[in-house]
Amino acid sequence: MFPAQRPRRLRRTPAIRQLVAETALAPSDFVAPLFVAEGLSDANPISSLPGHFQHTISSLHDEVKTLLSVGVSSVILFGVPATKDEFGSAAWDRDGVAQVALRSLRDAFGDELVLMADLCLDEYTTHGHCGVVRTDGSVDNDATLELYARVALAQAEAGADVIAPSGMMDGQVAAIRAALEGASYDEKIIMAYAAKYASGLYGPFREAVGVEIAGGGDRKSYQQDPRNRREALREARLDVDEGADIIMVKPAMTYLDIVTDLRRELDVPIAAYHVSGEYAMVKAAAANGWIDGPAVALEQLTAVRRAGADFVLTYFARELAEELAR
Ligand code: PBG
Repeated sequence: MFPAQRPRRLRRTPAIRQLVAETALAPSDFVAPLFVAEGLSDANPISSLPGHFQHTISSLHDEVKTLLSVGVSSVILFGVPATKDEFGSAAWDRDGVAQVALRSLRDAFGDELVLMADLCLDEYTTHGHCGVVRTDGSVDNDATLELYARVALAQAEAGADVIAPSGMMDGQVAAIRAALEGASYDEKIIMAYAAKYASGLYGPFREAVGVEIAGGGDRKSYQQDPRNRREALREARLDVDEGADIIMVKPAMTYLDIVTDLRRELDVPIAAYHVSGEYAMVKAAAANGWIDGPAVALEQLTAVRRAGADFVLTYFARELAEELAR
């Protein structure tokens, strides 16, 4: 007897494997997260994100140039302000670091670049929360929405193509959409961090932006509970109804079921954010010689696409784009 089906026939050569591959991963599927800090004279390496920096405007331009040259034409920008206050006012200041950087990238690269702006307040507030904190320590949802609307307008005015609210306040997409439409910014894309989980994997990011949540607090009253799957669909549907153009899931690897659910249920583009902790784990194990870093990175990001994401926000963008070009 011989086996009637021999799946191995389709795996014999690289060319056959390429022919029958179900998933493709290309540099154009990546969005590179970038940090720009106020008041630096030189780019400042982020130790928990090897290969990443708090950028000056000048080093930011160099990085974007390199990304474009390897086929990565989308970036998401995070600002690190020199001063913070209770409400995070630097987030909507016309001369705030993120707005200055957005404007200069827009001027330098035009429409060649898809320019995304993360919209949140935690980098800008003294207490490190994503919104307005009441005297009892809770986060005031609706007071926060007013501030998000201001930030969205500042980012739109500075030239962002995509506004990406990451604070997980109820109604944030509607508030931002209304503000944008009210100011005739009808072409601005909203990419909603729709299903953003209260994850332990954001640690290196918080180092990168210098955020510490006051009193050892957490974000569990606004970010999602990792035990919940159905709830992600509810969040995502609300965001689409409120005017989101793209839905994002975050983190990526631990939430592939969510990516698959949203892909099946919705007809908007789905993104996933392979977050700082996911990057750092691969980098740390690779530095110890325990895994082949680029191979694992490629495997993970391919899995995100296989699960149903159209594109991936990843700190591996540049490195893997270079790898894929080889
Ligand atoms: C909030 C925000 C966070 C990340 C992106 N936007 C941090 C948080 O929710 O605490 C995390 C990204 C990462 O870990 O790579 N401004």
